[in-house]
Amino acid sequence: MLAAARYAWCHVSEEPAPRVLISEERIRARVRELGARISADYAGRSLVLLCVLKGSFVFAADLARSIDVPLRVEFLGVQSYGSDVRSSGVVQITQDLTAPVEGEDLLVVEDIVDTGLTLTYLVEQLSTRRPRSVRVCALLHKPARIQEPARIDYLGFSIEDVFVVGYGLDYAQRYRNLPYLGVLDAEPTGARDA
Ligand code: IMP
Repeated sequence: MLAAARYAWCHVSEEPAPRVLISEERIRARVRELGARISADYAGRSLVLLCVLKGSFVFAADLARSIDVPLRVEFLGVQSYGSDVRSSGVVQITQDLTAPVEGEDLLVVEDIVDTGLTLTYLVEQLSTRRPRSVRVCALLHKPARIQEPARIDYLGFSIEDVFVVGYGLDYAQRYRNLPYLGVLDAEPTGARDA
């Protein structure tokens, strides 16, 4: 994850235990709430849950099990950053959907909305495939970093401008298996329910 390079204080080789930002319990409770809201909003319909790889795989797996309307799961691989450490807004699709989504209700599941450039690009791209609707469920949002206002229909947590790992999110491909959301720095941070 090249975006992490701006956080020079991270030393992956030493693998410090990230400080807990959002505990497993808080995540579990919030995912249940999101699932209940989504189930109510889509009652009587069916969904395509679109998991944006790689960071969303854990969140999407838990969210899927909290939703009680019929759904199928699709995966979309994206690469948000090239050689630069900042999001350019040019998103490369590295793995495409396996089936058309025309006429279907799409729920894009994102791990984190940082600048918003990736999500904006994705929603535009997906809209060209003529789904019946496109909504977005993001686990995390960093309002301080937003460049491109992107509509988030279901949000887990708003957080400060810190680099988070765990629960699917990585630093240099590590930490995705942490069961909580953690921070690698020692700076004061906070998170609140969205
Ligand atoms: P955006 O285009 O700047 O919104 O980029 C969003 C993508 O950047 C996310 O899907 C993540 O892959 C990555 N990203 C942004 N912030 C973090 C973070 O704090 N931890 C891990 N990945 C992040």
